[in-house]
Amino acid sequence: MVRIKKSFVCSNCGFTTLKWMGRCPECLEWNTLEEKDETKLPEEHRIFSGTGETILAHIDDIDIEKAERIQTHYKEFDRISGGGIVKGSYNLISGAPGVGKSTLMLQIALRLAETRKVLYVSAEESASQVKLRFKRLNKDTKNTQLFLSNENNIDKLRDIIKNEKFELIFIDSIQTVYSPTVQGIPGSISQIKECAVKLLDISKKTNTTLFVIGHVTKSGNIAGPMLLEHMVDSVFLFEGDPTLGYRVLRTTKNRFGNTNEIGIFTMTSTGLEEVENPSSFFISNETETSSGTARALILEGSRPFLIEVQGLTTSSNLPQPRRVVTGIDNGRLAMLTAVLEKRGDVYFSNFDIFVNIAGGLKLKTPAGDMPIAVALLSSMLNITIPNQVAFVGEIGLGGEIREVPGIDIMIKEAQRLGIKQIYTPKLRNKPKIKGKMKIIEISNIFGILEEIRSMNIFI
Ligand code: TYD
Ligand code: MG
Repeated sequence: MVRIKKSFVCSNCGFTTLKWMGRCPECLEWNTLEEKDETKLPEEHRIFSGTGETILAHIDDIDIEKAERIQTHYKEFDRISGGGIVKGSYNLISGAPGVGKSTLMLQIALRLAETRKVLYVSAEESASQVKLRFKRLNKDTKNTQLFLSNENNIDKLRDIIKNEKFELIFIDSIQTVYSPTVQGIPGSISQIKECAVKLLDISKKTNTTLFVIGHVTKSGNIAGPMLLEHMVDSVFLFEGDPTLGYRVLRTTKNRFGNTNEIGIFTMTSTGLEEVENPSSFFISNETETSSGTARALILEGSRPFLIEVQGLTTSSNLPQPRRVVTGIDNGRLAMLTAVLEKRGDVYFSNFDIFVNIAGGLKLKTPAGDMPIAVALLSSMLNITIPNQVAFVGEIGLGGEIREVPGIDIMIKEAQRLGIKQIYTPKLRNKPKIKGKMKIIEISNIFGILEEIRSMNIFI
């Protein structure tokens, strides 16, 4: 006997309860709880993976399918996806509105449509608006197999996809498609959930590769895409202040590759362009620097970069001096100043401190500790650090400088960029360097202080 199961679902946030309430305890909206019969589940809900067939076999009897990868020929994208997108995979591109998600997806769709049948669903803009965008990209669309649709009803979309076999489908965006079988406006959590499950079902049944765009609002309202993250194979986060010229594409989840790579693009008047030489982007070209600036070597994934760290210390008469940071973690600054005070006898308690990573980059690795400390000390002691000098190394609580992974790659990059002197932690394996670059190994904070003081003479 089938037991009838009734529940109440909030049409705004998807919260489910067995009892009716006037106000949803989850999103605090009034009159959003609606009765739902949960006895029968739609077909798609039962199939979450594979083709729907149940498999039970000994582990040794299962064949490994070699993932077929589709290359977009955008080097930045292919690298971060682990060598191209896997055929039949479900990919989410998320990011704040205006960052350039549609532009990136349109460009990739266009490239792939040169050899494959591609559908671009833009429920946000009309087909003619999308065509206008393509025109703006200055790309020829004549010999491509690119199809556009502005259908936002997921069931109708499924019929289109069933009849016409596409290899790749782009959905722009998940917040604008809707399913007539559930309550709530497009973009509400219940709708996003339902559409995401239906898309997964379509993708698995037709072996289609899916790209789904999801907005993340600045107010932190990421509940929709967060929910999607569990379901999809890969999540690509597109970041960058739309007012700055460049954008960073980061893999935050990847079932078919690693997640520490980043891809860098710049927004131009004819779309996004790849940045193959990022170091030149993040450092200023001025030959004269002032005190408080230090160049840092960092590694993002497998890529070394040279960036600029700026520090400013000014005497403060506030009871609680200011600590303002952009691009680094506040906690990291607190730790570094504490270590500099305790182990280096340099006191910051009566000073306002500002730290900035030039170019709007976010410094997440501890390899940036030494350059941050140098920038602060340089400002504090009013000693200018020459331009052709770079720093790398983590600082421990005892004031010791620790080795970080990938130093040899970073040293190579420094050499390529014409750095003359590089300060590193004590190295276990001495890298072989050709040419004139000098490597100076430092073991603790006192070593840094000594070197900075000697830089007056260096210049
Ligand atoms: P868009 O891709 O629409 O962002 P999203 O889909 O993430 O909301 O584009 C973002 C901005 O990029 C938009 O304000 C206009 C700008 N842009 C350019 O500067 N050059 C271009 O060639 C294109 C297509 C857009
Ligand atoms: Mg868009």
